[in-house]
Amino acid sequence: MSTFKKHILITGGAGFIGSHVVRLFVNKYPDYKILNLDKLTYAGNLMNLKDVERKPNYEFLRGDIVNSDFIQNLFKERKFDSVIHLAAESHVDRSISNPMEFIMTNVVGTVNLLNASRDTWKGAELTADRNIFYHVSTDEVYGSLGKSGYFTEKSPYDPHSPYSASKAGSDHMVRAYFDTYGLPIVISNCSNNYGSHHFPEKLIPLAIHNIKNNRPVPVYGKGENVRDWLYVEDHARAIDILFHKAEAGSTYNIGGQNEWRNIDLIRLLCSIMDRKLNRKEGTSTQLISFVKDRAGHDMRYAIDSSKLQNDFGWKPSLQFEEGLAKTVDWYLANEEWLQKVTSGEYLSYYSQQYEHR
Ligand code: NAD
Ligand code: DAU
Repeated sequence: MSTFKKHILITGGAGFIGSHVVRLFVNKYPDYKILNLDKLTYAGNLMNLKDVERKPNYEFLRGDIVNSDFIQNLFKERKFDSVIHLAAESHVDRSISNPMEFIMTNVVGTVNLLNASRDTWKGAELTADRNIFYHVSTDEVYGSLGKSGYFTEKSPYDPHSPYSASKAGSDHMVRAYFDTYGLPIVISNCSNNYGSHHFPEKLIPLAIHNIKNNRPVPVYGKGENVRDWLYVEDHARAIDILFHKAEAGSTYNIGGQNEWRNIDLIRLLCSIMDRKLNRKEGTSTQLISFVKDRAGHDMRYAIDSSKLQNDFGWKPSLQFEEGLAKTVDWYLANEEWLQKVTSGEYLSYYSQQYEHR
């Protein structure tokens, strides 16, 4: 008989946010068994979890959530009592060039997990001690804001990119399983995360990498688009709280109360990098290069997370300058991680180690 109090499936745990969530749960809850299921796409990297991979309450399994037979069998075998679902195609630019991959993983993959959870938890067990299907989603489902206002949990969905449309589709399916089958779900919609282990295709790690190597830093359009940035460990902490405390069927917004125009963010980053690399102030800003805008580029995201703050007392723990400086320190101290990721070396290494299902 298992001695673990809970058996939790975390999907996408080898990715950026997923690895922070896995680390938090494995370290904080030694009496929970965590299975990290990840396909190890280009975005999945087991180097992200080196520090927890030998813990007795952690296990990794390589697999694709789009494979419904595999998912059904896995649930029959393991009898998870909860799911924290982060696996997704996550990059907006890639969704513009390859939308189908996003529909498959983000919508079909999510529905496969919903079906398997419903089938495993049906009947009396459904209302037993807290089965939860926790779906991690994005503020991008709400579309774009003008100069003022905030997204609340009641904002209408208005996605514009194939990525955000696929996440909106998955959110609707998750809610439909609550309304139709009584599957106990929680959804959170979070703003832009930043921090360690962020794949260097996204703005902040890409800029850090390029500044370090004296390469141009591409800023889309005029750099006037606004994002609300949250330190990734604050997001993981919010997921922990909501996983344990949110009512089934509920939705929460998570945000940093930290809006920055892209160009201002990049200028701040350049100045931090000048300091850290002992360069003359103003050196790195010369690398800024305005390039063609992203198609359908949402102008402004800003999150009202007062529901989360009022219900559970959560709030962001770090000032942006502090979080950004910590992030830069991590990238400068982890040359090997960045080198293996940018060279693609990490991919072939793990492909050989794990069979693909
Ligand atoms: P990421 O791209 O860094 O990681 C995604 C992970 O999912 C990778 O490890 C990848 O291998 C895995 N994966 C992809 N397709 C899979 C499949 N078919 N089967 C199994 N595993 C698969 O993404 P992230 O930035 O860590 O985002 C995680 C989640 O959080 C996503 O659902 C994303 O929509 C959401 N989110 C991200 C942000 C952000 O700022 N990054 C903000 C809000 C919400
Ligand atoms: O808002 C939450 C979303 O944040 C998540 O759901 C997504 O998974 C995550 O990727 C992120 O989406 P963005 O498109 O906002 O992140 P990205 O880092 O790609 O871009 C941030 C902003 O910077 C955006 O306005 C586009 C711009 N940008 C991006 C890149 C990669 C540039 O100006 N230049 C770049 O090279």
